[in-house]
Amino acid sequence: MSLIIPNHVGIIMDGNGRWATKRNLNRSQGHLAGSETLIDIAEYCFNKGVKVLSVFAFSTENFKRSKDEVDFLMDLSIKLLKGKLKKIINNNIKVIFSGRKDRLPEQLLKTMTKVEKETVNNDKAILNICFNYGGRSEIVDVIKNIVNKQVDINSITEDSIKKYLYNDLPDLDLVIRTSGEYRISNFMLYQMAYAELYFIDTYWPDFKKEDFDQVIIEYNQRDRRFGNVK
Ligand code: FPP
Repeated sequence: MSLIIPNHVGIIMDGNGRWATKRNLNRSQGHLAGSETLIDIAEYCFNKGVKVLSVFAFSTENFKRSKDEVDFLMDLSIKLLKGKLKKIINNNIKVIFSGRKDRLPEQLLKTMTKVEKETVNNDKAILNICFNYGGRSEIVDVIKNIVNKQVDINSITEDSIKKYLYNDLPDLDLVIRTSGEYRISNFMLYQMAYAELYFIDTYWPDFKKEDFDQVIIEYNQRDRRFGNVK
């Protein structure tokens, strides 16, 4: 029997810091290892048939970290977008970003715009990188946008609101969080309403393709009722 592959998968890539500390490495080395995992898993997801992959790369709250760590993550992201991620996106993947653009370094913003432009016509699948992202901020920005545009109150529906989110994406079917934390931490709140949640103790840098296969097996055993009766 063939397995159903979720259309839209979200990943909260947690545990880079703890992975590094456990090995007496510094946190940056954890993020570096985590970025390698992201490249492998993103490629694997798309090959399996996932149509949208949303990854939580940098939350609005991550700005509270030390300047060194924030700077490292910004630099790493630029390097990834210019380098290793290319291997994946050159395979007809469209890259989009969700999040606020304020507080991001000019060089990163430029790189993001360039990647978005270069991949805008790719149509195999979408990589949605949540960067400087917060689920509540997204809802605040939606409301501001709707008020600003003086949208007719009667036309506002659960579906119409999706057009005002950072990106108009299908609902999340599955959200994976690594590192043994059982929280959703402000990730894609509106899109997550009916998602299946999967928590795994493994730190993100140790998450393997076999773990993803296991998640898909469990996803296929879940009974998705969307509020309906059986
Ligand atoms: C969580 O681990 C991970 C992050 C905050 C950053 C993840 C970012 C990447 C892998 C780079 C992605 C960049 C792009 C452009 C796709 P943590 O530091 O919270 O780990 P801890 O909870 O163990 O401290």
